[in-house]
Amino acid sequence: MQPISRRQALQLGGLGLAAALAGGIGLGRELSTGGAGGNGAAGEPWAEPPVLRSRGGELQVQLEAARGPVRLAGRAATALTYNGGSPGPTLRLRPGDRLRIHLLNRLDVPTNLHTHGLYVSPAGNADNVFVSVGPGESFDYDYRLPPDHPPGVFWYHPHLHHRVADQLFGGLCGAIVVEDPEPVPVARERVLVISDITLDRSGAVAQVSMMQRMAGREGDLVLVNGRLRPDLSARPGERERWRVVNACTSRFLRLRLDGQRLQLVGMDSGRLASPQDVEEVSLAPGNRADLLVTAAAGDAQLRTLPVDRGRGAGMGSAIGREPEVALATLRVAGASVAEAGPVPAQPTPRDLRGANVAARRRLTFEMGMGGGMGGGGRGGGAGGMRFTIDGQEFDPARVDQRVHLGTVEEWTISNTSAMDHPFHLHVWPMQVVADNGTAVTEPTWRDVVVVPAGGHVTVRVRFETFPGRTVYHCHILDHEDLGMMGVLEAS
Ligand code: C2O
Ligand code: CU
Ligand code: CU
Repeated sequence: MQPISRRQALQLGGLGLAAALAGGIGLGRELSTGGAGGNGAAGEPWAEPPVLRSRGGELQVQLEAARGPVRLAGRAATALTYNGGSPGPTLRLRPGDRLRIHLLNRLDVPTNLHTHGLYVSPAGNADNVFVSVGPGESFDYDYRLPPDHPPGVFWYHPHLHHRVADQLFGGLCGAIVVEDPEPVPVARERVLVISDITLDRSGAVAQVSMMQRMAGREGDLVLVNGRLRPDLSARPGERERWRVVNACTSRFLRLRLDGQRLQLVGMDSGRLASPQDVEEVSLAPGNRADLLVTAAAGDAQLRTLPVDRGRGAGMGSAIGREPEVALATLRVAGASVAEAGPVPAQPTPRDLRGANVAARRRLTFEMGMGGGMGGGGRGGGAGGMRFTIDGQEFDPARVDQRVHLGTVEEWTISNTSAMDHPFHLHVWPMQVVADNGTAVTEPTWRDVVVVPAGGHVTVRVRFETFPGRTVYHCHILDHEDLGMMGVLEAS
């Protein structure tokens, strides 16, 4: 798939806003069969990507990005892979480790790599999203995790502006786990990389329209580790640890596993002091959940429920309301096992609510008209629509926010559009302190925060440790590619 060029965007500007947005509903609707049976009938065997684990403080890996044959959703497909797989290998690290990745680009377009959520430098050949690795080229990334790096679930994906959505949707992603200092006793751990994709009849990744980009594309198939509705089995009483990544380009997940005990251990890099019983887990694109599942006899379905994520600019086209989708089946049978030991206590989460605030900023997500109704005009974005933060499209040569290391800032991110936008800041985690003006009572740490349509969210961030330039953006990655990204420089 070719990313849309400025010229194409301008041409599409003539399309007219109403027509564009009416067609802008997620891809998922047409092929979903509805009810819990959505997502096809499959029931493939459970599988996980290969695991690469650090030893003696270091993990050195080669990741080869290529378009090639791969089994996806139980059929032969041609998609984008890391080391021949989609998702790519799971990287397991410890705090204090050095991670070296030799990224080899065998695609016919440039790419790069981002380690989403890792607390590492954004500069040089660390988590630098301004790097571009051309076709046939390679790049040596070198990341150093601080010794107090938070444990949790992270992930990697390409981050080259204008190409991110196509490359992630095409299959390029993988999980990263940073181990706990003291392990949680479980019968087994699983990684669940949840992604969506649309394959055409030939098994190639389907093209998406400008309308789908504007809404944020949603694939027809929602996969767990590249599989369609895989089957998992466990014995009654067993406790499992599930590391769940929402690696969908734009789809919001609202997960349920009815009939089973679900406990949340952490979200993104934010660890809860003790596990919390939950019935549902909501993950915006980019969010991760660290979950404990205690198995009870019977079959249970992991499902994602519809998430209303707004409308295309008041045109009445609701987005994200397709029927629920079945993602996996957990089959629990056999002899019961004894209850697992207690979960080790976690340090009390940091809390910036009492901190001195050095600066307050307001950032605004907007979907505005470029050069008048239906006319792309100057900087005309998509279908006459511009996707901006503070009225500007992304420019890698401009610094939008300058922050000082060692200070705490309070940012209010507002959204004047009729669609939700998940706000993501690289490197530094955000403490959500207010949601649409309502104070958040528990210390809540995220690296992706949903800013609701017409609403606002307030976060606090302690900028520290890493000087350099990095980005913040909408994690509906189609919107990021269309311009909803800004540059931050820390010094
Ligand atoms: Cu998951 Cu800037 O991205
Ligand atoms: Cu990121
Ligand atoms: Cu957005």
